Amino acid sequence: VAADDPGRVLVPTEEDRAAAPPGLRVEVWTGDGEPGGDLGDVTFYVAPYNRPDGITVIPRLTGLKAIQVLTAGYEQVQPLLPDGVSLYNAAGLHDASTAEMALALILAAQREVPEWAVDQRDGVWHRHFTRSLAGSRVLLVGYGGIGQAIEARLLPFEVEVTRLAGHARPDQQVHGVGELAALLPQADIVVLAVPETGATRGLIGAGELALLPDDALLVNVGRGSAVDQAALIAERGRIRAALDVLEKEPPPPGDPVWRAPGVFFSPHIGGGSATFVPRARRFVAEQLRRWAAGEPLLNPVDK
Ligand SMILES: NC(=O)c1ccc[n+]([C@@H]2O[C@H](COP(=O)([O-])OP(=O)(O)OC[C@H]3O[C@@H](n4cnc5c(N)ncnc54)[C@H](OP(=O)(O)O)[C@@H]3O)[C@@H](O)[C@H]2O)c1
Repeated sequence: VAADDPGRVLVPTEEDRAAAPPGLRVEVWTGDGEPGGDLGDVTFYVAPYNRPDGITVIPRLTGLKAIQVLTAGYEQVQPLLPDGVSLYNAAGLHDASTAEMALALILAAQREVPEWAVDQRDGVWHRHFTRSLAGSRVLLVGYGGIGQAIEARLLPFEVEVTRLAGHARPDQQVHGVGELAALLPQADIVVLAVPETGATRGLIGAGELALLPDDALLVNVGRGSAVDQAALIAERGRIRAALDVLEKEPPPPGDPVWRAPGVFFSPHIGGGSATFVPRARRFVAEQLRRWAAGEPLLNPVDK
């Protein structure tokens, strides 16, 4: 594209195109099939959510200036990002949905919902007392958008929350990650909401699991790589886990995680609920308005 050519914008839905300001050349590519036209004139690309081809197409967009992903995490895009292309993420758009999922997993695990569902299927009526969420000590690992949304939803459940992030923020009573080992022995429930980075890979390994009290619950709604899954499985149910994200998604057939004692999981669907859709459409409309007006876009990612 010539320097004075604003180029073409690719968006993932008709609704995004309809909301674009007049004068902008906008086309829809849902991530299915081949995108139309000469891909070299695409300057701004809004990648479709949850479509693997939406990411693999990036190297073919040779005139690209900016890319918007609709995920909060962006580690999957970074290796494909050409020099000089700005990256924008969906920070904030997934907070409510993912926090809700974290609460669902915590409550399901504490009140044994998966077991009751199996009992019902098997025609079994087996009443017994369960753990509760009320009265639990919860360690929140990751205190960004999602971590804070989880906390807001947890507090009415009468829990004691301890906050931990990459860097300590003493004014907000947020501990730094260096204090993780000291905090784990006092946690009944650990909730992970951290991005995938070199520092978070294997954040919870055999050593960290060993520090947790018996019967503690590990919840992960961030990225699967933060937990050493083999180490978790080696705990043989001493530590329970409710996971929305796994090391391999889906786990291969026969992977021990399918049948690991005390472990249940959902298929990486924290962000994928109805509430995301209107938020995403409003957000894309605002980004297109800014793009057309030459204003800085929201959510720049520091690569
Ligand atoms: N399950 C799903 O469907 C789903 C949906 C959306 C997002 N996610 C995942 O959730 C992640 C978090 O999203 P977000 O929007 O909350 O991100 P965010 O606002 O950037 O917050 C990330 C938090 O993680 C902390 N952190 C980073 N490295 C850490 C480390 N080594 N140890 C401890 N804490 C660390 C950060 O600490 P500082 O504050 O000190 O930087 C920050 O508090 C995303 O990156 C994505 O991978 C999953």
